[in-house]
Amino acid sequence: MNQNLEQLKEVLGRARQEIAKVIIGQGVVVDHALIAVFTGQHALIEGVPGVAKTLLVRTLARVLGCEFSRIQFTPDLMPADITGTNVYNLQKNEFTLVRGPVFTSFLLADEINRAPAKTQSALLQAMQERQVSIDRETHVLSPNFTVFATQNPVEYEGTYPLPEAQKDRFMLKISMVAPEREDELTLARRMLGKDSPEATLAAGAVQQVITGEALANLRGELEGITLREELLVYLVDITRASRTHESVLVGAGPRATQALLLASRAYAAIAGRDFVTPDDVKTMAGPVLEHRLILRPEFEIEGVTVGEVIQKILQQVAVPR
Ligand SMILES: Nc1ncnc2c1ncn2[C@@H]1O[C@H](COP(=O)(O)OP(=O)(O)OP(=O)(O)O)[C@@H](O)[C@H]1O
Ligand SMILES: [Mg+2]
Repeated sequence: MNQNLEQLKEVLGRARQEIAKVIIGQGVVVDHALIAVFTGQHALIEGVPGVAKTLLVRTLARVLGCEFSRIQFTPDLMPADITGTNVYNLQKNEFTLVRGPVFTSFLLADEINRAPAKTQSALLQAMQERQVSIDRETHVLSPNFTVFATQNPVEYEGTYPLPEAQKDRFMLKISMVAPEREDELTLARRMLGKDSPEATLAAGAVQQVITGEALANLRGELEGITLREELLVYLVDITRASRTHESVLVGAGPRATQALLLASRAYAAIAGRDFVTPDDVKTMAGPVLEHRLILRPEFEIEGVTVGEVIQKILQQVAVPR
């Protein structure tokens, strides 16, 4: 096997190990976060308070040698609070750029649905273009720029739900639920002792496995993961089936196909393989499609969930041998 691909797999494996020193359990969540980073995409994180969303992104940043910032979205947040502004400097008699929080690698956009559309779209534009314009000047963002945007699934009051077109820009949705009983017990024990997850991160007990610069280069190696033509057809058919399923009002657009392709390749790499299998595609279809489908109201009222519909879609589409 290609040497660089070996290195990619090794880095992914070590990253998982180091993250596990802080984040207890939540293995699927960690893998999905790594997939977003290694494919150069962005992720939505949905979860109730206190399930370690912030801690996860901080830990990822430490392990992957990347800078971390956080923005708390509020109703009065302005686009310039995200991108930055030119401020007049009296002493120098000139304008100087005060860079906003998008000038980082890993950006945690907390409660993105608390800010109005105009502010949300400033971030989404930066995500899409990987650059921002401030007073007509263009500034390129970090090659590792990855947005993790959180949404609280319970509180909807006074929020501005992301429009469908904006959600589509997130490669996948990471759903974080409360830890398993055994994991919560481990957490409680560690909190009682001196090795709480936070203390572990603060104490520097977590090793950095790569530099930000090397990460930006290594990411390209994912292209070396083989995805055969039959699987490409499979991917496209899954996205297309989401548009015609009887319970679906709005199906997934072509960005979903691209996201599924990238996610399946990264998933194969995490599993230590250099080729994609139909199961990789199936596994990633859930997180990739989940936030892109809108069900017909009559099915929603009946209690049908998007997750169930995705399973039905997967049963419909012929799996390549
Ligand atoms: N799976 C877990 N592994 C390690 N620590 C955890 C886990 N779940 C919860 N915690 C602990 O719960 C606390 C809350 O974590 P954190 O602040 O990251 O949550 P959050 O999801 O960002 O919450 P909020 O939505 O309120 O911002 C931390 O002390 C963290 O150590
Ligand atoms: Mg938080």
